[in-house]
Amino acid sequence: MEIFIDSASTAEMEKWLRMGVLDGVTTNPSIMLRDGIYDMEVGAKKIAALLSPRPVSVEVTTNDLGEMVTQARELASWAANIVIKIPQETQDGIPCYGVIKQLENEGIKVNATLAMSFGQVILAAKAGATYISIFAGRISDEGGDAPQVIRDSVEFLERWKYKSKIIVGSIRSVSDALQSAIAGAHIITVPPQYLTRMADHKNSRDGVRQFIVDAQKAMEMMKKAKA
Ligand code: E4P
Repeated sequence: MEIFIDSASTAEMEKWLRMGVLDGVTTNPSIMLRDGIYDMEVGAKKIAALLSPRPVSVEVTTNDLGEMVTQARELASWAANIVIKIPQETQDGIPCYGVIKQLENEGIKVNATLAMSFGQVILAAKAGATYISIFAGRISDEGGDAPQVIRDSVEFLERWKYKSKIIVGSIRSVSDALQSAIAGAHIITVPPQYLTRMADHKNSRDGVRQFIVDAQKAMEMMKKAKA
C-alpha cells in the first residue's frame, strides 16, 4: 500500500519524504487555499518538483466539460508527475467520464475524484482513470459504509484487471486510515496531523525513556565495578 499526503504544505512533504514514507501528494482547491497557496501554478510546480517523480494530484476548477479538458491540458503541462483530478460529475450532476476517457487517451493521468459509491468507481474504471479517489469521511457523514465501498471497489478492479488504483481520501482520524488499509485500499492519502498521530504511541515514548534510563544505570554500575 502507498501513502500519500493530503496537503499543500511543502514543509510537511519534506518532513515525511525524509522519513521515507511518502509516495505522492493529493491537493484540491480547498487544501491549497487553507495552506496559503493562492497562485496554483507556482504552488503546483513547486510541489511537483519536490515530489518528482512521485505523483501530485491537482484539481480542475470548472463545471464546464470542455473547459475541464482545456484546464487539464494546461495543468498537466506544468510537470510530468502532475495527475489531474476530475470529479465524477459536475455540481449539477453531469457525469464527467467522457472527460476522463479523453484525457487518458491523450496520455494525461486522471484521478477521478469525489467518488462516494461503488457505482461511480465502476464507471470511472471503465473510463480509464489511473486513480479513483473514494472519500471515506464524506461517505460516513451520510451514514454510508466506507470500508465496504473500498472492499467492493478493490475486489472489482482486481477481478476484472482494471488499471485504476483506489486512493482513499477524506480521512478524518487515524482509525479511518487504518480501516481503509484493512479494507484493501491501494493508497491512503492522509492529512499530516494524522500521520503524526499514526507515528506516536505513549508506550513507545515511555519505552524509549525507560531503556535510556536503564542503559545509563548499567553504565554507572559498570564504571563502579571497574573502579
Ligand atoms: C482527497 O484527495 C481530497 O483532497 C481530500 O481527502 C478531501 O477530504 P475532505 O473530505 O476532508 O475535504
